[in-house]
Amino acid sequence: MSQTKKGLTLLLSLFTFYTATVGQSTDRKLLAPTPPMGWMSWNFFGENINEKGLKEMADAMVASGMAQAGYKYIFIDDGWQGGRDNRNKIIPDPKKFPSGIKALADYMHSKGLKLGIYSDAAPLTCAGYTASLNFEEEDAKTFASWGVDYLKYDYCGAPADSNTAKLRYKKMADALSHSGRDIALGICEWGDRQPWNWAANAGGSIWRMAGDLRDKWQSKPGEQGMSIMQAVKINGDLSAYAGPGHWNDPDMLVIGLYGVNGPAADLGGIGCSDIEYQSQMSLWSVMAAPLIASNDLRSMNEQTKAILTNTEVIAINQDALGKQGVRKVSDATWDIFVKPLANGNVAVAILNKESDVRDIKLSFTGIGLNGKYSIRDLWKHKVIDTGSGWKGRVEGHETKLFILSGSK
Ligand code: GLA
Repeated sequence: MSQTKKGLTLLLSLFTFYTATVGQSTDRKLLAPTPPMGWMSWNFFGENINEKGLKEMADAMVASGMAQAGYKYIFIDDGWQGGRDNRNKIIPDPKKFPSGIKALADYMHSKGLKLGIYSDAAPLTCAGYTASLNFEEEDAKTFASWGVDYLKYDYCGAPADSNTAKLRYKKMADALSHSGRDIALGICEWGDRQPWNWAANAGGSIWRMAGDLRDKWQSKPGEQGMSIMQAVKINGDLSAYAGPGHWNDPDMLVIGLYGVNGPAADLGGIGCSDIEYQSQMSLWSVMAAPLIASNDLRSMNEQTKAILTNTEVIAINQDALGKQGVRKVSDATWDIFVKPLANGNVAVAILNKESDVRDIKLSFTGIGLNGKYSIRDLWKHKVIDTGSGWKGRVEGHETKLFILSGSK
């Protein structure tokens, strides 16, 4: 690339970054300039969470190299609540959290991590615990006083219409923004009210755009429960709505769960192969999705750890330009995503949806990229070719993830 072209690309990147960040919302702070990364308790612990288990996960996040690779949050999901005290202040279950949430947040912060918590825009949460409707101000202040950094706000038990959802989410976002602490809001109404159209304005940093992801690659005919492939199908059409501070969330990474008993195992969640888990990592990265692991970090095998901590892949996800990859090809066999990066390079993900190995002869012109590129394979960690296209084999359910650089 010539110097002038490089300069122009950089200017364009800065401009896009500016308009995406400053232009999107009026008075709210940008609390998730890149997609949030962390670990969430739901898929592994379900309701059986406690401070000991969460601290162990935090320790493992640090010891495994995940924290170093960019994972920051320990997100407490449903099941932590112990009702309200006689002044209506929300309290944790004293058996599960004998030291209280503040002590847990302090623990996370002392390790350079952040703490997320969970509530719901109705009287009770999805699993039937105390929630925040009509206590938004009080609960936001309580979360702030504990040192919480993020709130996942669910929508079970709330009315179906969009207007109520917008109002309830904005009410909590406003409460958080004057709670005295930066607390990012994750909107979780499962995509039912097309949150990509309103969630950022309501104050959400991320929004789930579909139902709960199960630990499975594909659903059997007639089977309920979102699979990785269904989530990709839906989210692949939503790239225009994502940007710095506001991201589509196709739900947690199921990498390394291998069908373990728990919420991700029902409705056909029988587990995936390592190739499929690696594909999830590639696809979530190219789609600029939050990277939220949900496996047992304390006993990961080497393969799981390598998938979760591939820093070249994570860099695609966390790229400062904040573009969700655009799906340029979607046919019966292939999905191909293209994600422009801040430095002018381009990430390309090539997914083989078939269950057997396939050969592909891809001309880059066909996906809007003209010129010759050097092709770096982010799973092989090396440059594999140079040219105006790529010819090669992709295993069944595998996703190749490349960086193309140096267009001439
Ligand atoms: C809903 C959410 C899940 C999880 C559970 C907890 O189903 O979509 O992600 O938070 O509630 O009860």
